[in-house]
Amino acid sequence: MNLIVYTPKIEDLWFREMLLGDPETMSYNSAWGGTIPFPKEKQNDWYDFWIINHDGNDRFYRYLLEGNSNEFVGEIAYHFDKQKGIYLANIIILAKYRGKGYGEKGLSLLLQAAKENGCLEIYDAIAADNPSIKMFLNMGFAIEYSTKDIVMVRKVL
Ligand SMILES: CC(C)(COP(=O)(O)OP(=O)(O)OC[C@H]1O[C@@H](n2cnc3c(N)ncnc32)[C@H](O)[C@@H]1OP(=O)(O)O)[C@@H](O)C(=O)NCCC(=O)NCCS
Repeated sequence: MNLIVYTPKIEDLWFREMLLGDPETMSYNSAWGGTIPFPKEKQNDWYDFWIINHDGNDRFYRYLLEGNSNEFVGEIAYHFDKQKGIYLANIIILAKYRGKGYGEKGLSLLLQAAKENGCLEIYDAIAADNPSIKMFLNMGFAIEYSTKDIVMVRKVL
């Protein structure tokens, strides 16, 4: 494995469109409708918001690139949630690449980037039925609270 944190170029957004449109990849999101459309006409604004004008440390978004095969395998992100006053993390690995350690490695790369950018702690709101909670606990997150819908996990960086 040679996992690289890669800043997508606008012409790389086909991968995000494919990732979010893949039913198997997005089944974890079934409570909120599963796949998410990310059509070309939304991509310029999205790119501007997440990659160009990311408001200092408010938004961070990268692809995970497997350097050995030169293939994109997933995405990592965090953003500052102004309402909650906390940083929230996101990670998605394309379904066909799961179970090979990319999730844990990608999450550790995300935590490293967040720490380098000055985040002191990071949270994730995980759907209550999402088995990926195990990965977060493996990586040193602790459960802050749970509701019937989500488990909120937190890690000090
Ligand atoms: C969560 C996710 C990123 C894990 O990716 P991955 O590449 O399969 O993760 P890894 O191979 O590094 O495995 C990490 C650990 O978590 C466990 N795990 C991760 N996802 C799991 C799942 N869906 N079901 C059961 N166990 C899972 C693995 O068993 C492994 O633990 P172990 O090493 O103790 O056995 C991937 O399943 C995914 O993209 N899910 C959809 C998005 C999501 O749920 N993101 C998290 C909330 S933002």
